[in-house]
Amino acid sequence: MLIIGGGPSGLLLGQLLGRTGIDNLVLERRSREYVLARIRAGVLESGTVELLREAGVGARMEREGLIHAGIYLAASNRGFRIDFEQLVGGSVMVYGQTEMTRDLYRARDEMQGPTLHGVDEVRIHDADAALPRVSFVHHGREHFVACDFVAGCDGYHGVSRNTIPEELRREFERVYPFGWLGLLSPTPPVSDELIYASHERGFALCSMRNPALSRYYLQVPLDDRVEQWSDDAFWDELRQRIPHDASERLVTGESIEKSIAPLRSLVAEPMRWGNLFLCGDAAHIVPPTGAKGLNLAVSDVYYLWQALKRHYLDGDDRGIELYSETALARVWKAERFSWSMTRLLHRFPDQSEFEQRMQQAELAYLESSAAAQASLAENYIGLPF
Ligand code: FAD
Ligand code: PHB
Repeated sequence: MLIIGGGPSGLLLGQLLGRTGIDNLVLERRSREYVLARIRAGVLESGTVELLREAGVGARMEREGLIHAGIYLAASNRGFRIDFEQLVGGSVMVYGQTEMTRDLYRARDEMQGPTLHGVDEVRIHDADAALPRVSFVHHGREHFVACDFVAGCDGYHGVSRNTIPEELRREFERVYPFGWLGLLSPTPPVSDELIYASHERGFALCSMRNPALSRYYLQVPLDDRVEQWSDDAFWDELRQRIPHDASERLVTGESIEKSIAPLRSLVAEPMRWGNLFLCGDAAHIVPPTGAKGLNLAVSDVYYLWQALKRHYLDGDDRGIELYSETALARVWKAERFSWSMTRLLHRFPDQSEFEQRMQQAELAYLESSAAAQASLAENYIGLPF
């Protein structure tokens, strides 16, 4: 098995396959240090947590991860809580993608799973034939590797998605007219749970990595540049968008990292072509508002691992044949949730007053209805795999 991409989906697949006795090689374009320096997601669904335990990489997460049994939604500087535990009997775990990836690299080292960093010009050949091959350049030399299957875990900018011929592939996309400016700060989080704040100046999110490390986000126009945003400007803007009691408690400090990510929804169909399978961001992107990106990558990996187990251990190919359909059914539901949270909480540049009233009415409905809250909670903690 050849895995393209050493991000969370490629590494988790490699770990699960390795423990099942299925040989695999991971090809990663960047260095390990580069992969581990990318600050991305922070919230793990309970299904993700369980799979990480099953993969044997749950120990540090159990010790250091923070269990969150709810979130706050805020509008016009006032908040209310969605209680996951009470509404749907579940919770999520706050544990950074960086930490999860670090744990997976350590486990791969222990397993002596082969990983090549700094590979270039990766190409997939004959993915629809019985024996696909992958060519790449490593340390200036060209290599060819033949394998049973190829897993495209190479993210949005990878080569795998575009290997599927255009006439067989469909892409469904929505690009949002704003981005998120994220700031990582070595200060205690402003709140014990995440705050998602809708405000006339734009959306804001208060998140965290641990009790001494906070992660905050601001909705910004697409053409804003990070260099335009001093730390002071960020903190001033955040204070205006979050509830008053939170802004009074906010502890600010010098940022460790600041970056802007554009928001996008994308689904590529199908997620399998012959012996090539797409997993994670290689096949789909969600706006981060529902905290679903990383978790969706994990559920794809779960389905592919199950399918390959059935193939290698039982000689049964039904899982492989159904992989795309099975994964896409869950992907579309997470896409819907991420899109609806994005639409509910952000200011759109061309928004009419009618649409603003619809957002206000939906938030007021959520505040007053246990049924509406249960639906949000069910999706936020994650639909079953
Ligand atoms: P990736 O993490 O993208 O990993 C793909 C790997 O493949 C990378 O290491 C890349 O270097 C490698 N690669 C790419 N091309 C090649 C190639 N040709 N050959 C070899 N290797 C290759 N989700 C949330 O839930 N919350 C967030 O706050 C959040 N913030 C995000 C911010 C940014 C800037 C981005 C890009 C994503 C964010 N996400 C967030 C989404 C989440 O991080 C992703 O869903 C998750 O990283 C998907 O994992 P993956 O392994 O599928 O892809
Ligand atoms: C984060 O902590 O980075 C984070 C948390 C929740 C989200 C998005 C990002 O919805």
